[in-house]
Amino acid sequence: MTEKFKNMETAVIHAGYDAKQHLGSLATPIFQTSTFTFDSAEQGEKRFAGEEEGFIYSRLGNPTVNALQERIAELEGAEAGLAFASGMAAVSAVLVALTKGGDHILCSQGVYGCTFGFLELLNEKYQITHDFCAMETAEQMEQLIRPETTCIYVETPINPTMKLIDLELVARVAKKHDIPVVVDNTFSSPYLQQPLQAGCDIVLHSATKYIGGHGDVIAGLAAGTKEMMHTIAMTTLKDVGGVISPFDAWLLLRGMKTLPVRMDRHCENAEYIVEQLKKHPAVKCVFYPGDQAGKDFAIMEKQMRKGGGLISFEIHGSKQQAQKLLNDLSFIKIAVSLGDAETLIQHPATMTHSGIPEQTRKQMGISDELIRLSVGLEAKQDIWEDLQQALDQLEEAETPVQSHHQ
Ligand SMILES: Cc1ncc(COP(=O)(O)O)c(C=O)c1O
Repeated sequence: MTEKFKNMETAVIHAGYDAKQHLGSLATPIFQTSTFTFDSAEQGEKRFAGEEEGFIYSRLGNPTVNALQERIAELEGAEAGLAFASGMAAVSAVLVALTKGGDHILCSQGVYGCTFGFLELLNEKYQITHDFCAMETAEQMEQLIRPETTCIYVETPINPTMKLIDLELVARVAKKHDIPVVVDNTFSSPYLQQPLQAGCDIVLHSATKYIGGHGDVIAGLAAGTKEMMHTIAMTTLKDVGGVISPFDAWLLLRGMKTLPVRMDRHCENAEYIVEQLKKHPAVKCVFYPGDQAGKDFAIMEKQMRKGGGLISFEIHGSKQQAQKLLNDLSFIKIAVSLGDAETLIQHPATMTHSGIPEQTRKQMGISDELIRLSVGLEAKQDIWEDLQQALDQLEEAETPVQSHHQ
């Protein structure tokens, strides 16, 4: 947050939009146009030369998209924001902007499967290498930082293991070496965590998730300094072209208005489900940042408002049993997104993280028995009832039939 808005609950509704400039329209108008007309050839020349403010072409700027960019900047406490056609368009645009052939990226131990795929692509095509690091101590990071390290890339909570990384620690080490820190804040949303306040440099989101919140849009966002955002806007956004459509920007502006209300409910429901899962005999262990007994609880308290809406857990058994659990659910949907009103469940080893080689996947803590749950906004008792009946079926299949003969 900047000084313009004191509270996020107000900023999510008002930041970036002034109704007076749009005939009093309460909702942000959708400027569904590819291009903008000039009053004269001379005006066109001035706009292209940057001598006059104004819109030119929607890949270079659009009023609906601008409102969204200003809003995300406000929520993350950044000078400027950018919007993209997908979370991966944001990830790739930021990573390409910060690197050149031969550079090195230091990554958290565990990233989203397609981010992993993009890191591999950078390596294969441009010899931009990467190392994964637990980032639990400064020493672990120092050992892997090289003169050609130009970016530190962090996911916290890490998808799908829910491990946390201390952002202040990472930012401190990075500052010493003058390396920018990029944080994928998708799992928390700006309501639960603001990485720039911890000293990081760029924050990005798959806005497809909590920011959109309704499972009806694919989009990405980034925020950081004016200078960095301008560089990305004029290079890897404008020239690679992963721009968001005005309608999708509008969907995000609409979804964002309820972000704090939704996040509070996601967290409340998740906390309840965690407590129930921990008591069920078919469950081996539960990973949740808000779990007081969890290894990373102190980090959660330091940098997150609450534990979030995502839980992962391991069951006793095998891949087949994990799949059986998913198949036995009633209204909980098997799907690989997260942050929607609907509770979604997925099996990372065969779905979101199936592109990662098995050995690396195991090192990241993604076993065949690991299941990720995105807790929705339904009644928490109903969510648990559905999970419980499926977990009970696993238990019943495991327990041999007892003989009642004396
Ligand atoms: C943590 C994280 N980052 C980035 C992405 C990519 O986002 P998108 O699917 O919007 O391209 C995802 C998608 O699941 C994700 O979970």
